Amino acid sequence: MARLPILRFPDPRLYQKAVPVTVFDADLRSLIANMAETMYAAPGIGLAATQVNVHRQVIVIDTSEDHKRLQVFINPEIIESVGTQFCEEGCLSVPGIYEEVERAEQIKVRAADGEGRIFTLAAEGLLAVCIQHEIDHLKGKVFVEYLSRLKQSRIKAKLQKQQREMA
Ligand code: NI
Repeated sequence: MARLPILRFPDPRLYQKAVPVTVFDADLRSLIANMAETMYAAPGIGLAATQVNVHRQVIVIDTSEDHKRLQVFINPEIIESVGTQFCEEGCLSVPGIYEEVERAEQIKVRAADGEGRIFTLAAEGLLAVCIQHEIDHLKGKVFVEYLSRLKQSRIKAKLQKQQREMA
C-alpha cells in the first residue's frame, strides 16, 4: 500500500470528470487500498479518486470513530434524495477551510463494491453529506463552489499563498 499525493484546490485537475469503472481487477483493488491508506493518514472521512488524480468513479468513506468501517462506492449514483440539511464541510483538497453547505438530508445511493457487486444504501446525517461531497468530486466539483464568489476567491488566495510558502 502507498499513500498518494492529494491535489489541492484550485488545481485544475480537480475539475476533471471521472469515468465509470468497467473492470474490477487487482489494479482497482490496489487503488482502493491506497486511497483508504491516504484517507486514514490525512486524516479524513472520505476521499474521491479525483483528489489523487485518478479520474475513475471510485470513492472511499469511513465516518466511524475507530476507522474500522471502510465503505467503497464504485460508479455511485444518487437515486433518491429527501429534505435539506446544513453541515459544516471540510475537504482534504481544501485544507484548513470549513464552511457550511446545503445538502439533501437523506439519500439513497446505488453503487458497486470493490468486487463489482451492485448495492443500494440509504444514508442520512454525516454519511449522507459525505457521499454527496465525494460524488461531487467525481463530477469535477469542489464544495467551495457552493459558496459566494467572494468567499471562493478568498479561499483561493489563501491556499495559493500557503502553497507558495511551502514551495
Ligand atoms: Ni473533498
